[in-house]
Amino acid sequence: MSPRYDSEWIARLLDGEERFGGADPREMLAAEGIAEGHAVVDYGCGPGYLTLAAAELVGAAGMVYAVDLEPSMVDLVSRRAADAGFSNVGTAASNGVNAPAPDGAADFVICALIMHYQETREERVAVVRDAARLLRPGGKAVFVQWKSEGGRSSGVTFDSLADIAAEAGLAIEGPYHVSDAQYKAIARKEAGN
Ligand SMILES: C[S@@+](CC[C@H](N)C(=O)[O-])C[C@H]1O[C@@H](n2cnc3c(N)ncnc32)[C@H](O)[C@@H]1O
Repeated sequence: MSPRYDSEWIARLLDGEERFGGADPREMLAAEGIAEGHAVVDYGCGPGYLTLAAAELVGAAGMVYAVDLEPSMVDLVSRRAADAGFSNVGTAASNGVNAPAPDGAADFVICALIMHYQETREERVAVVRDAARLLRPGGKAVFVQWKSEGGRSSGVTFDSLADIAAEAGLAIEGPYHVSDAQYKAIARKEAGN
């Protein structure tokens, strides 16, 4: 296992007080419109902090697909979802480009703190194009990203994300404040695309 996925890293990602400006993850996702019956892809789910919050919001009539390129994270999310009694969470390891979830079916794709893992612009474009593939027309991708360029997590600026989203055929809005260190951007797949 890469040291990046060690127990300290996992604990930090599951610590609600530290994350997204201390926002309650259910309230944060509900504010985006995630609700009963929706299909959601948690793209780069990590240990599943947002996956389980989304599963609670979409309920038994909805579905959350949690994908990550790290198999140990996928296993962890499966265990956490089962322990919490969720039967509406599907998990899959991904090659990082073609996330194994249905095409054009997602009401929402969550991309939280994953863009800086893509080392080149081409890799970033590939991920955003993949998010666009997963979305239904009218669906939206929610990006949360570090603000600083070249900081501890080499952030992706809103302008660079907007440029990439346009290339992937998504209309982007933002940046919106999440915390001093993070911003949010919303990328919509136009109805009819
Ligand atoms: C900082 S963690 C964030 C996890 C989760 N989104 C959260 O906010 O709690 C980033 C995760 O994204 C995953 N990841 C990065 N790039 C990915 C890609 N192209 N496809 C799938 N997973 C990816 C990493 O393996 C890691 O688990």
